[in-house]
Amino acid sequence: MNEKNIDALLSSLEQLAAATLAALAAAKNQHELQLAFAAFLGKGGDFTALVKLTGTLPVDERPRFGAAINVAKTRCEEFRAQRQSELNTAEISHKLASERIDVTLPGRRGFIGSKHPITLVSEEICEIFTSLGFGIAEGPEIEKDFYNFEALNMPKDHPARDMQDTFYISDEVVLRTHTSPVQIRTMLKEKPPVRIIAPGTVYRRDSDITHSPMFHQIEGFLVDQHVTFGDLKGILHSFIAQFFGKGVNVRFRPSFFPFTEPSAEVDIACVICGGKGCRVCKNSGWLEILGSGMIDPEVFKSVNYDPEVYSGFAFGMGLERVAMLKYGVSDLRLFFENDQRFLRQF
Ligand code: DAH
Repeated sequence: MNEKNIDALLSSLEQLAAATLAALAAAKNQHELQLAFAAFLGKGGDFTALVKLTGTLPVDERPRFGAAINVAKTRCEEFRAQRQSELNTAEISHKLASERIDVTLPGRRGFIGSKHPITLVSEEICEIFTSLGFGIAEGPEIEKDFYNFEALNMPKDHPARDMQDTFYISDEVVLRTHTSPVQIRTMLKEKPPVRIIAPGTVYRRDSDITHSPMFHQIEGFLVDQHVTFGDLKGILHSFIAQFFGKGVNVRFRPSFFPFTEPSAEVDIACVICGGKGCRVCKNSGWLEILGSGMIDPEVFKSVNYDPEVYSGFAFGMGLERVAMLKYGVSDLRLFFENDQRFLRQF
């Protein structure tokens, strides 16, 4: 009974080895070879199942069966290695025969990227202002309510907060809605005179053709003794002439911002129609480019500057807006879609 049992197992083993060798021989590529090998000798393979039956044999017969298993296994493993190298060689020769390199083809030029138009505009504006003696500063995009609103003369219930639809992180922490908080951070660190330009990313809950929830601004401010509205006008006229061109008409329009008094919005003659009136300027002939004004004494108080001694001006402009005007871009969203056809034009 036992004798018959080991004979049956030995014959199964023999059959299995033969089938394994046949499957390995038939494999046409490395993947098939791998599959064939795994089917027989892998963890869940037939071979493994057979090995497990060793334990059902009488103890004195187990060594014989074990030895037979080892022989069969070694044969299969050796054959697999042989097939593997045969297939390797065949694949390489096939590649060499079918792939030709045309050494006369011209080389492919690597694509050199270019700066994003918003970066270009930001750099150009920074350059103009640094040449006027301004330094560059930056602030965090996740900002405390104190810097973004409170110290800029916008206490918690101030209606002007409604104009800046804000992403709140908590009651006291926001995504900054403008670059103006850099004014506060700088003035708390430095004593006058200060002359700073501060570019950066800002956030508002707004999204349509002319608004994006993430956009960019550049803030500028100057504080010293005896600074007047005339200084603000002079600096902005000089900036506009350098950035938009010498002959461009500029007008200051009275406005309101909680952190400046008096405040003005600045318009330039429409870059599309030259002031005659068109769709872009809504037939007014003018385009608004920035907000500005003389820094409010309340702001000076919140940074411990004496408003009796110091005065200063500030302004803030949207980089997407000035980039649209400068390059004639009609949809703000183009700046954020990363379409190469658009970006490569700059
Ligand atoms: N922070 C204002 C805004 O985002 C823009 C602004 C207006 C900045 C007047 C200024 C300023 O510095 O003086 O709407």
